[in-house]
Amino acid sequence: MTKIEQAAHALKEGHLVAIPTETVYGLGADATNPSAVAKIYAAKGRPADHPLIVHFSNPALLSSWTTEIPDYALKLSRAFWPGPMSLVLKRTSLAGDFVTGGQDTVAVRVPSHPVARAVLAEFEKLGGLGVAAPSANRFGKVSPTNAAAVEQELLGHLSTDDLILEGGDSEVGIESTIIDCTGELPKVLRPGAITVEMISEVTGLEVSKGPTKIRVSGSLDSHYAPKAKVVLDAEPAAGDGFIASANVPTPTGVIRLLEPKDDQEYARGLYLALRQADALGLAKVVAISPTGAGIAEAIRDRLSRASH
Ligand code: TXA
Ligand code: MG
Repeated sequence: MTKIEQAAHALKEGHLVAIPTETVYGLGADATNPSAVAKIYAAKGRPADHPLIVHFSNPALLSSWTTEIPDYALKLSRAFWPGPMSLVLKRTSLAGDFVTGGQDTVAVRVPSHPVARAVLAEFEKLGGLGVAAPSANRFGKVSPTNAAAVEQELLGHLSTDDLILEGGDSEVGIESTIIDCTGELPKVLRPGAITVEMISEVTGLEVSKGPTKIRVSGSLDSHYAPKAKVVLDAEPAAGDGFIASANVPTPTGVIRLLEPKDDQEYARGLYLALRQADALGLAKVVAISPTGAGIAEAIRDRLSRASH
């Protein structure tokens, strides 16, 4: 059996598989199997009322999991799947309370990473319908963007039948854009690589960004936090870690953790840089936020949560 077939079988048998995606690595379980999904919550130390995203490879499975799909959601799915976007829609009876945290909606995503696509396709060949997968980190911690980071987060918390798949560094580096599609207008619940501008262009609609009643754990004020204290837009002192775009020089004695040439590179390297800070045992990291629109907005969102 190939690694991919092994992983698909493990999922079908109710085990956990850490899966590389283009955003971050996910910790997957069969989304129709309550005891498998319970293992995710246990491994992450995550409160049970926090809903999970269901992943699949065949876009036709959208109608197995969700209903009352507005036209703009179909447009979004055609434009950005496979890719770094999750849609929140009214659930069908397939989406149990153990996946949705008891809400009447479910979040779904078709990822584009070749390993994720292959595992999901193989799982669907075995009759699987969807893989519930949160980011493969302990609750509240920094999301892993490579297999080594997953091991660091979860090794003591997985059982011997669980698997971690290798898939290199995640291309995007921050979690998917979450779009609530249950209202008249799309609403961004968590910013990401699919930006408000892109959503608006594809749907021809205004995108609302107002507060929402729906629970999003990624919207807790403190999240994505390393052990080091993260301070934004300040002057770093000697011995501090430092994250800023490449055109900002490194002051003497400061430990440069990331110097991205553009916002894409910033997003891709951010979580690795925060991990590096902890690996070096740094007490403090100063990050200079990127300005402007697009994915910079998502980077500022994650930086502000990491700094809480
Ligand atoms: O990029 C990603 O989305 C990664 C990869 C693995 O796909 N997954 C991820 O999952 O970030 P997680 O569980 O760490 O974050 C998913 C977020 C949570 O904040 C959760 O509250 C929200 O999605 N969510 C899930 N279902 C929801 C729903 N029905 N309504 C509102 N928010 C929901
Ligand atoms: Mg997460």
